[in-house]
Amino acid sequence: MTSVLTAAAPLQTFDVERVRGEFPALQQTVHGHPLVYLDNGATTQKPNVVIESLERYYYLDNANVHRGVHELSERATDAYEGARETIRQFLHADTVKEIVYTSGTTEAINLVAYSYASRNIKSGDEILITEMEHHSNIVPWQMLCQQTGAELKVAPMNDNGELILEEYEKLLNPRTKLVGMVYVSNALGTINPVKQMVKMAHKVGAVTVVDGAQAVAHIPIDVKDLDCDFFAMSSHKVYGPTGMGALYGKERILEEMPPFQGGGDMIDYVSFEKTTFNKLPYKFEAGTPHIAGAVGFEAALKYVQNLGLGVISAHERGVLQYATQRILEIPGVRIIGTAGLKCSILSFVLNDVHPSDIGTILNLHGVAVRTGHHCAMPVMQHFDVPGTVRASIGLYNNREDIDIFIEALTRAKQMLT
Ligand code: ALA
Repeated sequence: MTSVLTAAAPLQTFDVERVRGEFPALQQTVHGHPLVYLDNGATTQKPNVVIESLERYYYLDNANVHRGVHELSERATDAYEGARETIRQFLHADTVKEIVYTSGTTEAINLVAYSYASRNIKSGDEILITEMEHHSNIVPWQMLCQQTGAELKVAPMNDNGELILEEYEKLLNPRTKLVGMVYVSNALGTINPVKQMVKMAHKVGAVTVVDGAQAVAHIPIDVKDLDCDFFAMSSHKVYGPTGMGALYGKERILEEMPPFQGGGDMIDYVSFEKTTFNKLPYKFEAGTPHIAGAVGFEAALKYVQNLGLGVISAHERGVLQYATQRILEIPGVRIIGTAGLKCSILSFVLNDVHPSDIGTILNLHGVAVRTGHHCAMPVMQHFDVPGTVRASIGLYNNREDIDIFIEALTRAKQMLT
């Protein structure tokens, strides 16, 4: 896969002003100022096509899936399964059997922990993760280690927030049964060399789980090229609805895994004596699913695909570079996360001012950022900070947004120092 930083100049042009016009939430003022939305790492705003797809679904097509013979149920089922095919194409998976709907990245990782790892990992085994994981790719493995007696190992990063690949390699050994790795760090923006990490993990026979939550809106994903065993993603990080996501898993591994939850739709036959389970991917989807979520998810992926992820990432890279350059004009700013390969995220501290005080003043200027530990407390521990201010860039951000953000930050500094 071509790196986002070395990708050739895009052939398509990117009209950011037109794109901004397609996001109704961006058209408002906050505290008397035009909204500058720089909290895309937490969740992205939704374009008209996504909002309209949800509206159309609920106005016209709402019914349960896989259950009815009537027109609306057929339409809902077609929409739900059509969305699965769009996700398959987006991830370049072989078959829709490998695409399991989940409520998001967190549930996807927990599904792997409960259904795969709890059966295949035992006392004496090791699970390896990186120091820059989000809590959702730490805590499920810690819980599993407590249950099984396996040991959690952590591959360190350097002070730029880059994984130390030699240390990662040293930690891999025949006891390593599973490796969890974040593609893009939500707190630092670091892009990890996941293809290489997967290859190294496979050499010792470990199964790999990629947390793709922060990657999918910025980097084209090809799960076959990555060769990862599992890939987790959320719809709301890529301009789709919340409460929706997907787990990609290699078919042969998913086949061997028992269901995650019991209930309707995940069964083949039920009697009080015995139940047999539905085929892939339905055995992992108990109960009435988030059908509208799938519809909106598909609309979001198509929206991003139509714009082109190469074009989007080139645009965002320019905005991030501009923001990085401008913020360094402010004395006292320390950027947390200076990896050579990064995207979207500008995390920083300003002297010893508490990040939430800065965020509060930025909000008064209509600028939305996230402050705190970003659900990555070990990253904060590494850099010895209580938290950071995080500006995270999405496809609709432009240089004017950055100018307003820098102006508001300068004022915040005047007030707080
Ligand atoms: N994981 C999300 C973030 O980074 C919520 O803000």
